[in-house]
Amino acid sequence: MSFQGNSRTEPDRRGFHTAVIYGLGAIMGLAMSLPAAVYLLFPPKSKKEDQWVEAADLSKLETGVAEEVVFRRNRVDGWKVSSEKTSAWVVKKSDTEVVAFAPQCTHLGCAYRFDERKKQFNCPCHTSNFDLDGKVIDGPAPRPLDRYLVKIEGNKLLLGQVEKKEA
Ligand code: FES
Repeated sequence: MSFQGNSRTEPDRRGFHTAVIYGLGAIMGLAMSLPAAVYLLFPPKSKKEDQWVEAADLSKLETGVAEEVVFRRNRVDGWKVSSEKTSAWVVKKSDTEVVAFAPQCTHLGCAYRFDERKKQFNCPCHTSNFDLDGKVIDGPAPRPLDRYLVKIEGNKLLLGQVEKKEA
């Protein structure tokens, strides 16, 4: 009885099985790393830049007066989307021109108010005052009020991101 035939085919069979096992391992490794590679190469797109929120009806705003409008906006953080309440001080200059200020003082971030009599914004924390264009009148604030990007569609006032104003 001879095993010569078997011993000749055994290394081929073993080599084939080894190749199949390595091949399956490579396919499984690729399948498991593909989602991570996709995430790293194509991270979730931040929608912050092109996010516009309807904040007010322009026909209800008085011209030449600042009014505080409160609205909700979605915050996108990676895959997480949360809704947050925020506000803006809106000055309607005409039916086609509107300015919307971020509600934080540019000194240390306190909430400021509008003084109707003096037609200026007053920050109670360290007494910075701003005019209707957001420029510093007096006080320690180092720069004008920050503004929202503004878009007008019919009577709708849409607000975008806040742009920091330089001194
Ligand atoms: S935070 Fe407004 S003046 Fe200081």
